Amino acid sequence: MKPDLKVTIAGVEFDNPIMTASGCCGYGEELAGVFPLSRLGGLVTKSITLKPRLGHPPPRTAEVHSGMLNAIGLANVGIDRFIAEKMPFLAGQKTRIIVNVAGSTLNEYVEVCRRLNDVPGLDMIELNISCPNVDEGGMEFGSDPVMTEKSLAAVKKVFSRPVIAKLSPNVTSITDIAAAAEQGGADALSVINSVVGTSVDIDTWRPRLTNNKGGLTGPAIKPIALALVNAVYEKCRLPIIGIGGISSADDVVEFLLCGATAVQVGTALFIQPDAPVTMVRGLKDYMKKRKIASVERLTGKVRKY
Ligand code: SIN
Repeated sequence: MKPDLKVTIAGVEFDNPIMTASGCCGYGEELAGVFPLSRLGGLVTKSITLKPRLGHPPPRTAEVHSGMLNAIGLANVGIDRFIAEKMPFLAGQKTRIIVNVAGSTLNEYVEVCRRLNDVPGLDMIELNISCPNVDEGGMEFGSDPVMTEKSLAAVKKVFSRPVIAKLSPNVTSITDIAAAAEQGGADALSVINSVVGTSVDIDTWRPRLTNNKGGLTGPAIKPIALALVNAVYEKCRLPIIGIGGISSADDVVEFLLCGATAVQVGTALFIQPDAPVTMVRGLKDYMKKRKIASVERLTGKVRKY
């Protein structure tokens, strides 16, 4: 039996359910030197803003037990250079391309999405309303249901392909935010962005990030992410892309069973850059062993007590 790994999200077909997460492989150029990007279900770019951003000064990443903290501060080349210099390369890759978009104001989000609307070769936008490392935009938008709905509705007016809302775990009720995103017209949800955290150097008494705090990712947050994926799956009809500490094919299966249709791999890329390829292989083996014909059959099938 040849297991079918194809999944469909908002009418877009992916060869397999494994994508890279935003911010973990830039614009894909370096990763393409490790393995053909066609092995991925999709690639999600670093967040793109209207103007180029240098981000926070280093150190802006720190390793912690079972994970990593980051406070990059949305460093990126800005929309004009992204379209001129990065998109032609991405458009030539035989994988789905998702452009992550961030902004400090609603107008900025809208303007970036408007400019992306005519750009060929990108399949979807992932709206970053959940970055914990900036004072304006990001999590500020994604922690308020009214702003969440407003942002989605505004972006949907100017971008005609599907829009994914990337949700924050740092909220009182992620299901309220998911419902607001759905109401605003989101086509899918990415669940979750990083969990706010910090770490302090006990010799210097200084935080290990210049931003003083950052976002925790990696295996440390996997149980949180699984629970939130499942909570959103039970309350919301939109397809879910699960994110949070996925490091193996077994992890992928867990996310699918909890309700994800696809997943994104982030922190694991820093340990093993070709981890997604290993996961695709492992997922196929898992399905063969259990005679599961289509990966879509796994979504939401966790057998609860
Ligand atoms: C960052 O650039 O600081 C991280 C982006 C994010 O977590 O959304």
